Amino acid sequence: MTEQTTWSQRFESALHPAIAQFNASIGFDIELIEYDLTGSVAHAKMLAHTGIISAPEAEQLVNGLEQIRSEYRQGKFNPGIDAEDVHFAVERRLTELVGDVGKKLHTARSRNDQVGTDTRLYLRDQIRQIRTQLRQMQGVLLTLAESHVETLIPGYTHLQRAQPLSLAHHLLAYWEMVQRDWQRLGEIYQRVNISPLGCGALAGTTFPIDRHYSASLLDFGDVYRNSLDGVSDRDFAIEFLTAASLIMVHLSRLSEEIILWASQEFGFVTLKDNCSTGSSIMPQKKNPDVPELVRGKTGRVFGHLQAMLVLMKGLPLAYNKDLQEDKEALFDSVKTVKGCLEAMTILLREGLEFCPPRLASAVAEDFSNATDVADYLASKGVPFREAYNLVGKVVRTCLGAGKLLKDLTVLEWKEIHPAFEEDIYDAIAPNQVVSARNSYGGTGFEQVRRALAEAQERMVSL
Ligand code: ARG
Repeated sequence: MTEQTTWSQRFESALHPAIAQFNASIGFDIELIEYDLTGSVAHAKMLAHTGIISAPEAEQLVNGLEQIRSEYRQGKFNPGIDAEDVHFAVERRLTELVGDVGKKLHTARSRNDQVGTDTRLYLRDQIRQIRTQLRQMQGVLLTLAESHVETLIPGYTHLQRAQPLSLAHHLLAYWEMVQRDWQRLGEIYQRVNISPLGCGALAGTTFPIDRHYSASLLDFGDVYRNSLDGVSDRDFAIEFLTAASLIMVHLSRLSEEIILWASQEFGFVTLKDNCSTGSSIMPQKKNPDVPELVRGKTGRVFGHLQAMLVLMKGLPLAYNKDLQEDKEALFDSVKTVKGCLEAMTILLREGLEFCPPRLASAVAEDFSNATDVADYLASKGVPFREAYNLVGKVVRTCLGAGKLLKDLTVLEWKEIHPAFEEDIYDAIAPNQVVSARNSYGGTGFEQVRRALAEAQERMVSL
């Protein structure tokens, strides 16, 4: 392109083509265009409101900006690398469309406060969408949990069988994590929703602008109080990436469990054909690609968080071009989180099925009721540590004899300790073991039913 860049009057020669390419952000910041247009509309209206430009001028600007929006939506606005970034691209097109008045749009504004405004408008929108997705996933977890209150699943610590659980309790643990993710994003939203518009390049402006006016047109909750801070701050983005990383941690842990559960060794779930793939060589394979990809994509979000922290740590005030690097980190994280939430929600809703018979036999054939034997004795007055040691010995003997606790006869129990009665068999049956853990927040069925009802309410009332 022979066209001059915005700042070319100050320069004697043109930018080296490779450097122009290197410098340009239009290849990715076009993602911000709708927010750039919205921000510019508000800025134009503010300029008229304060008498800096006339009302008819503002009207021309707004009409031109809206025309660019419709061109963009129809796929007709495709600025090239010569535009440098989305802000210049819009301004240039605006001037083509409305003539010289287009050149007034940038009065009392810098690309520094402009890009800050755009990024916040973008992120605000994305946070709302992600929160909706989190709610959808919670809804699916809840439905799944509701149908599995009395389905038992082995509970693990150290990936060793520990105590059996209600499957609903296990699923509700994820519901709670997602709930905190939803809350966290809500809190962060407050700090994303602050307007830097009017901070100028770094020091404010000589024009009598009204920052509160443009902020209110854009529905910002507040304005930056310090112009330097307004154009340099990216901690709102880092906070978002932190929240995004935690969402990914939660999705990744759930993914890991589903992958384990779907293995032949566990066999707790089967993946349906709509959410799994085959192998190119091993005909018997059915692979858990969805949770594997979610687990794998987690790394890139963590990477973006790290990149952003490093990006910021050595920057002197105020704007530095380094900050252009914030965008791809944000865009890719947003895309990754949204994609993973969507895929995981589909997987949970229609892509997997738990296998109750396999789960039932799993919990019936281990020593995860050993604590209950110790509790049984303790409730009959035997000091817990003494009971614990006694049961440890019993487990060892059983293992040697290839028996489970339920296989011992009443006589054998009595030999171990005279306090044992017939009712020991009920006490160690998996259903009883689970239902007896009725302490607040425990896996007892009564607790789980209460938690389910509360979760239902917490999804609507908060
Ligand atoms: N493309 C730039 C960015 O993304 C816009 C701001 C440029 N400001 C400047 N002073 N060069 O950060």
